[in-house]
Order: sequence, then structure tokens, then C-alpha cells
Amino acid sequence: MIVVVDFGSQYNQLIARRVRSHGVPARILPYSAKAAEIRALAPSGIILSGGPASVHAKDSPQLDPEILALGVPVLGICYGMQAIAHASSPGSVSGAGDGEYGRAALAVSDDPLFAGLPSDTTVWMSHRDAVRELPANWRAIASTPGCACAAMRHESNPWWGVQFHPEVHHTEHGERILANFVERICAAHKTWNLGDWIERHVESLRAEVGARNVVAAVSGGVDSTVMAALLHRALGERLRCIFIDNGLVRTGETEQAVAIFKSVGISLEVVDASAKFLSALANVEDPEEKRRIIGRIFIEVLAPLIGSHDLLAQGTLYPDVIESVSTHGPSARIKTHHNRVDEVLGLIKEGRIVEPLRELFKDEVREVGRRLGVPHEAIVRHPFPGPGLAVRIIGPVSADRLALLRAADLIFVEELKRADLYDTKTWQAFAVLLPVRTVGVMGDERTFGNVVALRAVTATDGMTADWARLPHDVLARVSTRIVNEVRGITRVVFDITSKPPSTIEWE
Ligand code: XMP
Repeated sequence: MIVVVDFGSQYNQLIARRVRSHGVPARILPYSAKAAEIRALAPSGIILSGGPASVHAKDSPQLDPEILALGVPVLGICYGMQAIAHASSPGSVSGAGDGEYGRAALAVSDDPLFAGLPSDTTVWMSHRDAVRELPANWRAIASTPGCACAAMRHESNPWWGVQFHPEVHHTEHGERILANFVERICAAHKTWNLGDWIERHVESLRAEVGARNVVAAVSGGVDSTVMAALLHRALGERLRCIFIDNGLVRTGETEQAVAIFKSVGISLEVVDASAKFLSALANVEDPEEKRRIIGRIFIEVLAPLIGSHDLLAQGTLYPDVIESVSTHGPSARIKTHHNRVDEVLGLIKEGRIVEPLRELFKDEVREVGRRLGVPHEAIVRHPFPGPGLAVRIIGPVSADRLALLRAADLIFVEELKRADLYDTKTWQAFAVLLPVRTVGVMGDERTFGNVVALRAVTATDGMTADWARLPHDVLARVSTRIVNEVRGITRVVFDITSKPPSTIEWE
């Protein structure tokens, strides 16, 4: 495997995904990981990620020189390269004026890292500091107009550093460079294959669960569906899947979840707890308070369904695991959604949680789902928040307001699908019901109705997002249909803010 040492880069997951896309397993460890811990994993190579700090800053993450001494190839990227230089020769890294951000023209020399590249190529830079003086026994192997040492390598050891980011899409031959490192230089074995992974994992899940039963509270979203399909393959009828209808779901959502599960051979139990949720939410305006109530009632409903020896399944993905590893590392923790199931039941402490997807990235979960026969519509479904429509009704939630929002949301999604914009052009799209009423005119009569906002974003992981540039004729059709078909809504607006500064949900 390749170990990616996390120096706080927003791209460290991307590096690991790129490595895996070449068929090689990748693990992310915080920079504070000891060399012995890395050695124990017997990696074929190590990639040191970028990071936002300066090596000169007090408390900045430093490279443990013992990592270089492990004897396996090392590639430092951006901060990772500077950390190597600084560890080898303090003072070799300094500020680069205003720095270099965005595209840069890179001239490369003959080196295995750049095998197959033209001598001039475009790379993506994002740095203020740079290696100004090469440490002893290192030489520059690439340059840009603003950076004389845009890549370096050691004369005798298998150590490389690049100032630019080969992992990002905008670096023209970035894939090739990473492949050169992983395949040629590290000669890593290609053992990361999702087909084999499924087979191996089914076996290890059987061993982990033993003779116990597993309960999975599922939503019908891609993660919970793939998790259930995998567990079902491993455990058959010893898996119990429960859909808690909190009354905050969209039109047809419960039936859709039942149908999707049926298609993978699982009979989904539906627990209708909507009355309980809605009465607890009556007159509650504050979004955090709504979330707390929904979390609490979810547990109240779920807890009695878990037998005293059962395990609880969770759809935790690898990015969530990395975030918790990085509690002691430098990556910014931007996690906002806590899984209250963990906290309240304390099952983790008792070792009664099973997390079948904890090694996978989202795109890998989708691929596993495809291989397990999960229907396409479940695989491409937009994310939907746990607290459901409660965070899309600004102000108090009521049955009437839920009905208005459901009707508007259904029209929006229908029209996006009809225009073929749902699967590929939008990452998430939904309607939001606002707590204002405005004046309108319909058939010569004054109206005083509700406003719906349409939110549609493009994103890769939801951490950042941009508003989707939807065609005006599609927006026009959605607006006309909503106002004509949903009595009580008289105005439709379109949200044109990105994240940041906004969030995707309005809350
Ligand atoms: P924000 O609004 O924070 O949302 O930009 C980012 C993504 O997370 C989803 N979201 C949630 N997902 N439980 C979830 O499973 C939640 O409590 C939750 N809140 C927001 C949101 O829909 C978007 O995709």
C-alpha cells in the first residue's frame, strides 16, 4: 500500500483516491504518526501531503526524519516537499513573494517521475513558501517561471518532492506523475480491486459479526442501501433493516426505499413514527433545536428495536474515519453532522457497532453498489439530510407546510429529471419553504402566499459547492408549474450563492 501522511491538505483524500484508482491500496495517517507505525504497514511508498502551514511557523507540523529513513520511496507534495527540505537543511525554505496560485508552466527534466511527459506542461500551484536552496545531495528536476525548484530529487535515495499538486484535475499530467511514482518507482502491487474487496469483506464481516444479528436503520440513500446490500450478502436473514418514517420525508420516499430494498432481496421494515416527530416539532423554530429533537426521538424509536446482543450497523465512510484520526492531526475538522446513534447508545464503547463501508470513499461505495446490483436510481440519488424536510422548512414545521414543500420539491426534481439535469448536472437540488408571505396576483385577484426557494448545486463532496447554472427555460417551467399546481405558493426564487459563504441547506 501507499501511506499518505496528512500535513493538513484539503487534497489528502484526493491523493489517496488517485492512488486507489491505480489499483493500489492507500491509507491516510496524520503527520504525528510514528515511523514505527508506518513501518508496520509495510508500505511500498509514502506520499507527504501538502498543508496550509509554513515550516517556519511555531507549532507547524514537522516531518519525522525517521520516515525518510524507512527506506521506501517518498514523494513530498507542496508542504510535504518543503517539510523534507526543512528537515534536511533548515533555512532552505523561504517565502516566495506573493506566492504562486493557479496554473503554471512547468519545464521538466528527464526523470522517472516525469516519464512519458512532454518537456513543457501545465501544473496547478498553490503556495507562498518554496524551496529556495536545495539541501545537500538534492537536485532540481523541474521549474516554473516563478519557482526555480518546482520539483527536486535526492541523488542517491528514492526521495522526490514536487511544489505543485499532481493530484488535482488542473495539473495536466498529474495522473501520469502519480502513476509513475506508485507503479514505476514504488512498484506497488495492484491489490485494490473492489470486486475482490467485496468477496474479502463479506468473509470478514461474517467473522466480525459471528452468530449475532445486525440491525440497520436505513434511509434508502446510497450509503445505507449499499451497506445493507453488503451486509445482506454476508448475513442473509440475520440482517434486520428498519426505515424510521419521521414524517419529514419527501413524496413517495418510503415506498421508494421499500422498492429499492426489495430489488436487492431485503424486506424493509417501516416504522411509522411521524406523529411522534411532528408533535415534538410543533412550534419549534430554531434549526439546532429541531435537529436535537429529531435526534432524540430517532433514538427513542430505534433503541427498543435493538436486541440486547444485536449489533448496530452504521454507514460510516472513510472520510469520516480520517476526520477522527486527524483529531490529533492538522486537518481542519469541518464535521457538522454527528451521528447521535453513536453518542446516545454508547454502543461503540461496547464494541457493538459494525461499519462495513469504513474503508471506502463515496465513489467506491457507488461502485460496490453497482457490483451488488443496487438499482441505478439509488446509486445516483442526491444526498438527503437526516433531519429531512425539517431543515428545508424555515420556521415551524407543520403538516400543512410539509405538504406545500413536498409538492414543490417533487415538481422541481421531476423537471430536472425530464431535462436530464438531475444525474449529471446537479449534485443536489431541492426546494425550501420560506417563512415569509408576499403579495401576488392570480386571475385578477390579489394573493398573499408563500415563497419557495429553489436550491441546486454542483459539488464533489458537499464540503464546497457552487450554484448550478440551470437553463432559464427549465427554471421557468419549474416556477410556472409550482405556482399553478401548488395552491398556497405564489412566488419562486432561485438561490445563487455558493458554499462558502452559504451552506447547501438553508436550515
Ligand atoms: P450543508 O448545509 O452543511 O450541507 O452545506 C452539506 C451536505 O450535508 C447534508 N446534510 C446532512 N446530511 N445529516 C446528513 O446525513 C444531516 O444532519 C445533514 N445536514 C446537512 C446536506 O444535505 C448537504 O448534502
